[in-house]
Amino acid sequence: MEFVFWCVLWEESSTAAVLPLLKGVVIWGNYMSVCFYHVGQSSRACAHRLPLRGHPPLVFALSVVSSCFTGISFSVLTSIEMAAVPLPLTTVDLRPPPYALDALEPHMSKETLEYHWGKHHRSYVDNLKKQIEGTELASQSLEDIVKATYNNGEPTAPFNNAAQAWNHEFFWLSMAPNGGKQPDGELMSLLKRDFGSFDNFVKEFKQAGATQFGSGWAWLTVADGKLMVEKSPNAINPLVFGHVPILVADVWEHAYYLDYQNRRPDYLSTFMNELVSWDAVSKRLQLALQES
Ligand SMILES: [Fe+2]
Repeated sequence: MEFVFWCVLWEESSTAAVLPLLKGVVIWGNYMSVCFYHVGQSSRACAHRLPLRGHPPLVFALSVVSSCFTGISFSVLTSIEMAAVPLPLTTVDLRPPPYALDALEPHMSKETLEYHWGKHHRSYVDNLKKQIEGTELASQSLEDIVKATYNNGEPTAPFNNAAQAWNHEFFWLSMAPNGGKQPDGELMSLLKRDFGSFDNFVKEFKQAGATQFGSGWAWLTVADGKLMVEKSPNAINPLVFGHVPILVADVWEHAYYLDYQNRRPDYLSTFMNELVSWDAVSKRLQLALQES
């Protein structure tokens, strides 16, 4: 069963006060997630929602403590499906992928994960922390930092590290051992509606990744209720355009070179056939549609 600890904040200003505490909760528990819903905030309430798993007595205890120290008007333990949506957490921290570093073998090696997560992703997070320390960005969620530092197309210094931190966590959560094959349900229906067929979608997604010049990303996004394939260079991510990402493939060379050398199309084929977590993509789709 999934649980959510709901914090209803009556004032926007309460966020800054509560974030340090919740950051501690997440690091300590690492099993749980916490939901922030700002009263009056509209479609991107999920910017502050963190997946929560297990340990309901601990979460209940934390809800009581939080209520005492943060001015939260009330909290309640409940269970909703949205709790399991695999999205990056709001805090700026390096979290391990939700599987062992060798769990994606033979399609993505432990060595690749050790470098990609352990070196590259780690450096983005470490550098971002240094860049935002002591600034007003330090109290914002990672998604909000990405949007703010994009600065309407004139990115400020922390943008690349912030977006790369978000992109990589989203990427790890886009894969699963024994992934790939095909989705079902509403996701499959919408892929057929918007691409003509599942095969057409796969072809378009792989083409986007293969033709992204240099470093970048291939995305499946939701915008205006429709599914779209997009590609982006370097750290750019569709959040800055108001689109909702539900799947990503990292096409920086560091994502595949140890396993596939320069054969990016082979890596993308394996990604689609063996690694995509369609369960994760389906849950993100449901959340995106609920919020649109
Ligand atoms: Fe990467």
